[in-house]
Amino acid sequence: MDRLADKVAIITGAARGQGRAMAELFVKEGATVVAADVLEPADPQGSGAGIDFATMDVTKEAEWDRVVTETVQKYGKLDILVNNAAIITYEPILDTTPEIWDRIMDVDLKALYLGMRAALPHLIATGNGAIVNVSSIWGLAAVPSAHAYHAAKGAILNMTKNVAAAHGPDGVRANSLHPGYILSPMNEDQADDINAALIAGTLLKRPGVPAETAAAVLFLASDEASYITGTSLVVDGGYLAP
Ligand SMILES: NC(=O)c1ccc[n+]([C@@H]2O[C@H](COP(=O)([O-])OP(=O)(O)OC[C@H]3O[C@@H](n4cnc5c(N)ncnc54)[C@H](O)[C@@H]3O)[C@@H](O)[C@H]2O)c1
Repeated sequence: MDRLADKVAIITGAARGQGRAMAELFVKEGATVVAADVLEPADPQGSGAGIDFATMDVTKEAEWDRVVTETVQKYGKLDILVNNAAIITYEPILDTTPEIWDRIMDVDLKALYLGMRAALPHLIATGNGAIVNVSSIWGLAAVPSAHAYHAAKGAILNMTKNVAAAHGPDGVRANSLHPGYILSPMNEDQADDINAALIAGTLLKRPGVPAETAAAVLFLASDEASYITGTSLVVDGGYLAP
């Protein structure tokens, strides 16, 4: 119940899906959570009780400045940043227009840079700040589709290591999370044959659920992971293991 006692966290993309599961779990574990999303949250007074929902587009530098400043003014500090918001489109490279490329890069990559840059002074100030950047198994391996998504998710891995290297001396830890096939609104329209192939490819022979990635993020964000930085945690039911 208190694995994040006294911690203040910002989690992006937390109106629904995995980010929402992270926000609910963080609150259960004692954290103050600002859940930032372009979408209005469902059930804010029910399962969302205790979460401070903020409307925000993570691609906008000024919105990062606003949300980070308001968080610190309201709660006194910022200990944890979880960059979780993302979008996906499925075009292979020859169908990826420059417009699609730019949009995916803005949301899935540049936004993480903007977020870390806005949050870092405050994470440094706490003396043991933590960043978790949500990538994907498609940041470590590849299928033919979703060219721009693969590019962004792969870059997250090394941008996270870079921040870990730059700010380890300040006590800031930065790690990336690499989910496999997790049931969420992002993939509810994904083709059945793709879902079947993903499940067949896991060692556990089932998709994951948001609570399972939330548990991994909770660990990485908490002081239990105090000697873990610059690494990548794969939560994929064993998909990448063989
Ligand atoms: N679901 C999967 O199988 C899977 C697998 C690997 C990685 N991931 C990653 O997990 C993370 C969470 O995804 P999810 O599965 O919960 O999907 P999701 O679509 O349910 O959640 C993504 C959230 O990000 C928000 N978002 C999108 N653009 C935004 C913007 N510009 N500003 C603010 N918020 C924005 C959405 O509104 C949504 O609430 C993502 O980084 C995704 O790439 C998902």
